[in-house]
Amino acid sequence: MVLTHDIYLRLLSLSSTSTNMGIPSFSFSMHLVLLSILTSLSLTSEAAQYRYHFCSDQTTFSPNSTYQSNLNNLLSFLNANSTRETDFYNTTVGQIQTPENTAYGLFLCRGDLSTNECQDCVSTATKEIVQLYCPEEKEAVIWYDECMLRYSNRSFFSIMEDEPSKTLWNLLDITEPDRFLQLTLGDLVPVAANASSGAKKFATKETKFAESETLYNLVQCTPDLSSFDCRRCLWEAITNLSNSYGRKRGGRVLYPSCNIRYEVFSFYHMQAQAVAAPPKGKGKISTAIAIVIAVTIAAAVVLVILLYCFRRRKASKKSNSINEVTSGISDGILNYHAASEVTTLESLQFDFGTIEAATNKFSDDNMIGEGGFGKVYKGVLHEGKEVAVKRFSMKSSQGLEEFKNEVILIAKLQHKNLVRLLGCGIEREEKLLVYEFMPNKSLDIFIFDPRRRSQLDWKTFYNIISGIAKGLLYLHEDSRLKIIHRDLKPSNVLLDHDMVAKISDFGMARIFCENQNIANTKRVVGTYGYMAPEYAMAGVFSVKSDVFSFGVMLLEIISGKRNSGFYLTEHAQTLLAYAWRLWCEDRVLEVVDNFLMESCWTSEIVRCIHIGLLCVQENPQDRPTMSNVVVLLGSESIALPKPKHPAFSVDKFIQIDKFSVNEASISSVVPR
Ligand SMILES: *[C@@H]1O[C@H](CO)[C@@H](O)[C@H](O)[C@H]1NC(C)=O
Ligand SMILES: *[C@@H]1O[C@H](CO)[C@@H](O)[C@H](O)[C@H]1NC(C)=O
Ligand SMILES: *[C@@H]1O[C@H](CO)[C@@H](O)[C@H](O)[C@H]1NC(C)=O
Ligand SMILES: *[C@@H]1O[C@H](CO)[C@@H](O)[C@H](O)[C@H]1NC(C)=O
Ligand SMILES: *[C@@H]1O[C@H](CO)[C@@H](O)[C@H](O)[C@H]1NC(C)=O
Ligand SMILES: *[C@@H]1O[C@H](CO)[C@@H](O)[C@H](O)[C@H]1NC(C)=O
Ligand SMILES: *[C@@H]1O[C@H](CO)[C@@H](O)[C@H](O)[C@H]1NC(C)=O
Repeated sequence: MVLTHDIYLRLLSLSSTSTNMGIPSFSFSMHLVLLSILTSLSLTSEAAQYRYHFCSDQTTFSPNSTYQSNLNNLLSFLNANSTRETDFYNTTVGQIQTPENTAYGLFLCRGDLSTNECQDCVSTATKEIVQLYCPEEKEAVIWYDECMLRYSNRSFFSIMEDEPSKTLWNLLDITEPDRFLQLTLGDLVPVAANASSGAKKFATKETKFAESETLYNLVQCTPDLSSFDCRRCLWEAITNLSNSYGRKRGGRVLYPSCNIRYEVFSFYHMQAQAVAAPPKGKGKISTAIAIVIAVTIAAAVVLVILLYCFRRRKASKKSNSINEVTSGISDGILNYHAASEVTTLESLQFDFGTIEAATNKFSDDNMIGEGGFGKVYKGVLHEGKEVAVKRFSMKSSQGLEEFKNEVILIAKLQHKNLVRLLGCGIEREEKLLVYEFMPNKSLDIFIFDPRRRSQLDWKTFYNIISGIAKGLLYLHEDSRLKIIHRDLKPSNVLLDHDMVAKISDFGMARIFCENQNIANTKRVVGTYGYMAPEYAMAGVFSVKSDVFSFGVMLLEIISGKRNSGFYLTEHAQTLLAYAWRLWCEDRVLEVVDNFLMESCWTSEIVRCIHIGLLCVQENPQDRPTMSNVVVLLGSESIALPKPKHPAFSVDKFIQIDKFSVNEASISSVVPR
């Protein structure tokens, strides 16, 4: 076994944490090996586990300078204050006597630690940072497993900062990446919502994900942040984790303002686990109670409505026979009063052998896509007709659920901008769906590839945007069902031979009752970067969450850049933040990809960006409906309201209230 120094240290500390907590619940033989190494080394478990540090080399001080003496005082104040029962302390030294040499600093201990443990870590940190890591830098931050310490010659309190940052991975791989990813992120998001709403800005959560395995999640912000900024910070950390996801059994993201971590062993104290404390003060408590009561009542009402709407016989989970599936499906359809129009499943049915032959026995050469549900193959039927075959993985019950969901929905839907289902094949374990084949693949392939982009023109982009809008409008309002897609993104928009956009993948979609407007789910599914904040954070979805995803796509189409994974030197973390800032500075054309600028359609392009920004506003009520969007896209003459700031993108260098906000709601602009 060859371990590099770094790997060795990381494994070592990973295991040493878990030895403190008792035998961990995961079963790696590697772990046993390490455990025995550790026992023989008898590692000092008291020492704080160093993780990462950063010093700014732009700002140094000279020995014996005023800054140094202020910094020394600052560190000793921080150290002294860690003996008090607090996880967090911030202080300032020299503000009055020597304003130009002021030192600002804070420490943050992991929310579950005892006062002693916290003090140990802060004491180590205050020593090591100046002795080992940053001897002459004015600005520094250091992370340990148990605490974080930070100082600077500028005031950074209450400001959300995500730089410098560090992502760390557990080195062990996972076996079922998709499911695990969904689980991890599905857990982190509600935990993040919990943490940001409490005063302590700390929350943990455990979830069983296999017979004997548990997933442990932890999120924490510095408590000087507002709930909004904390949420924004955690959101960015989660997005980062999901984008650079390394198929690892553990990972963490360290930002100056917040950090997140997940592992398959317990790395925090369970008993001392902090529940987000309610804000202090009598008045606030009663408001909090009132809000809790209101939310509970609202949730109960939604639940009753949901139960009423979705009353369905529980389909047997064990049996996958065609009868079970079809009866489940027709049950579903009957509930939506659409029985008369149903194309029966039999009439749509393909012979399994036919599909097998068409796809060359599902050969890898024919594979054209892959998702959480299974794989997609290209097939050619006898008559030479090309089809796409979606083969659902039946290993998980989720595969079956998604299959049923998709059949129920898509068999009912016919629209130029939705991908057409030609039929399905079911045999024993196999569940297949057969669609018309889309020769030009999916939108992401075109918009994020500069070479492919430049083959298209604005007219084509515009037709794609308006095609998506019309397809979505059909789902939301024009079909007899009201459908929320929930996973709109460029890779789910397919393009036919004429580059007409067709929305696909209804595995996550939900049907709403006629009078139902919002629903709530514990299982947040979808793709980070395209999910509306209310859905990602609280599991609340509505037509407006699809509108949000549409807005993100629109901006991506025009800019050629991805919303997440977006990285510019201009201090914007997401495309939305970037577009918003340029909008506010009246430079919005800079969002537009250069090659589009050459066309003479700039006013139409700006109008599209404007509509995109309306769709991604933080408050769902402010976002237009798809019918508004279709009308606005189709007309140059209707005045557009001013957009409010988009979700999670208030740039740290912009004061929101500097901009006047037009309160007019869009529904008054477009009468229905
Ligand atoms: C911090 O120190 C650097 C030089 O060491 C200086 O350029 C900068 O202006 C200082 N920042 C503040 C806020 O005083
Ligand atoms: C800083 O002060 C110490 C003690 O006061 C002294 O020994 C040392 O020489 C000084 N260093 C510099 C660079 O002035
Ligand atoms: C905490 O820090 C303050 C300065 O911010 C200092 O005056 C005070 O003595 C410290 N408290 C303790 C308990 O040492
Ligand atoms: C601690 O941070 C808050 C802002 O979050 C600030 O108002 C306060 O002045 C800081 N305390 C000290 C001693 O600097
Ligand atoms: C995540 O953060 C790391 C820094 O630790 C950075 O290198 C990486 O680009 C970020 N990834 C995304 C997708 O934002
Ligand atoms: C959020 O906090 C509440 C109570 O504070 C708790 O009941 C709930 O389980 C928490 N949710 C998560 C996802 O941690
Ligand atoms: C789209 O597909 C058709 C048919 O395969 C092809 O002729 C056309 O060139 C493709 N369009 C683009 C922009 O690639």
